[in-house]
Amino acid sequence: MTVAAATRKVPPGPPRTAALGLLRKLAGDRLALMRLAGAEYGDAVKIDIGPKTLYFFNHPDHAKHVLADNAANYHKGIGLIQARRALGNGLLTSEGELWRKQRRLIQPAFQHKRIVQQADVVAEEAAKLVSRLRAHEGGGPVDLTTELTGLTLGVLGRTLLDVDLAAFESVGHDFEAVQDQAMFDMVTMGMVPEWVPLAKQRRSRQARESLQVVVDQLVADRMARPGADQGDDALSRLIVSTREEADPAVGRQRMRDELVTLLLAGHETTASTLGWTFYLADRHPEVMDRLHAEAVEVLGDRLPEFEDLPKLKYTGMVLEEVMRLYPPVWILPRLSQADDEVGGYHVPAGSDVLICPYTLHRHPGFWDAPDQFDPERFDPVRSHDRPRYAYIPFGAGPRFCVGNHLGLMEATFTVALIARDLRLAKVPGHRVVAEPMLSLRMGGGMPVTVHAAR
Ligand code: HEM
Repeated sequence: MTVAAATRKVPPGPPRTAALGLLRKLAGDRLALMRLAGAEYGDAVKIDIGPKTLYFFNHPDHAKHVLADNAANYHKGIGLIQARRALGNGLLTSEGELWRKQRRLIQPAFQHKRIVQQADVVAEEAAKLVSRLRAHEGGGPVDLTTELTGLTLGVLGRTLLDVDLAAFESVGHDFEAVQDQAMFDMVTMGMVPEWVPLAKQRRSRQARESLQVVVDQLVADRMARPGADQGDDALSRLIVSTREEADPAVGRQRMRDELVTLLLAGHETTASTLGWTFYLADRHPEVMDRLHAEAVEVLGDRLPEFEDLPKLKYTGMVLEEVMRLYPPVWILPRLSQADDEVGGYHVPAGSDVLICPYTLHRHPGFWDAPDQFDPERFDPVRSHDRPRYAYIPFGAGPRFCVGNHLGLMEATFTVALIARDLRLAKVPGHRVVAEPMLSLRMGGGMPVTVHAAR
């Protein structure tokens, strides 16, 4: 769409001379930078940094326009483009016809019927985590983020691939190195070529190679089983589609890209949600008490089942509130394909456009006391008139998260089982900081001591 020059209204923003300071902030506290920009300039901000111009839009209507109504005009943007080095053209990063084809192929692996079938496996994996944590009861601290990564990778392995990923210990660390690199590329605006011999770049290259070895191994193991392509999990579906590819090398690469993508997109996000839940519950003992009471009442001493999800209502509200304050995908970067107008402002083709769940979820125009942890705000009585796009932890529009039901079921079961049986206490004095990488990580990890529930 060509926008007439007369309507070319430009959003306000910091002067070009502020670029150096902004770059420093971008490399340092990105979350504070985004909040500051919104507070100072309003819901539409133009930020010039060196050769780049970022358009930051922070109103639910803007999010709706960019992510849903005119989604065709917005490809994945800065950060995700760089993540392609590691993820290739998987579901998260691909575009156009390839994305549509792959989404059609993979989505059925997440349909309702399958989520219901997977409930037992997810509950079992959550119960195993509780046992592992229980082994530390009364003992020294254990790093909760490492344990949660083990859980979420385990669940993905069994639900999507029907394999035991516990055998591949390196996967969690490899993904960390890949994320580090993607964020480095983002804050340096992709201006440091890959051949520059930095330790970070070397580590990330090794991690990528090691992840490829893992997924090749997973595929080889599965192919060796009779009926390898007969299941309806994601891996079986990918195997069938790879066979149909005219060029086997292209098929193999596509399979690798999709598997690495699913593993990355599916494990960090859910682990981050769970980590922040126990961080906040530790600071709000009254919330922990209610979680415990609900889990005892709904579950008794059995494992959770799919039908328990609506009964674990308070647990659900706590998770919603956790993802409001700490959305695992804190930013949704896009690249405009043609000229557009967002909220009355002109956005030229080729612009970097940022929609930021982190700032939208704390927008004072849509949330009372936005920094306060208050799960009750998700009670339908209080939330019914909130604009839909003020809360987008799973994104919106055609690129909406494909794994949201699986992630939510896993998080709900895990919180309920841990809250019923244990109390996790953060090691006093240990500072946790929100680290905005591709997902919102718990910087410094979360060492906890484990106690029996009261
Ligand atoms: C609490 C858990 C989760 C959160 C908060 C979350 C969040 C998101 C968000 C915000 C997006 C949209 C990204 C964008 O528009 O740029 C997304 C996409 C995606 N998510 Fe999730 N996710 C979660 C769990 C999962 C799980 C368990 C999987 C399963 C493997 C998964 C797989 C994906 C994939 C493949 C995409 C790309 C979809 C596409 O572009 O077609 N996610 N997720």
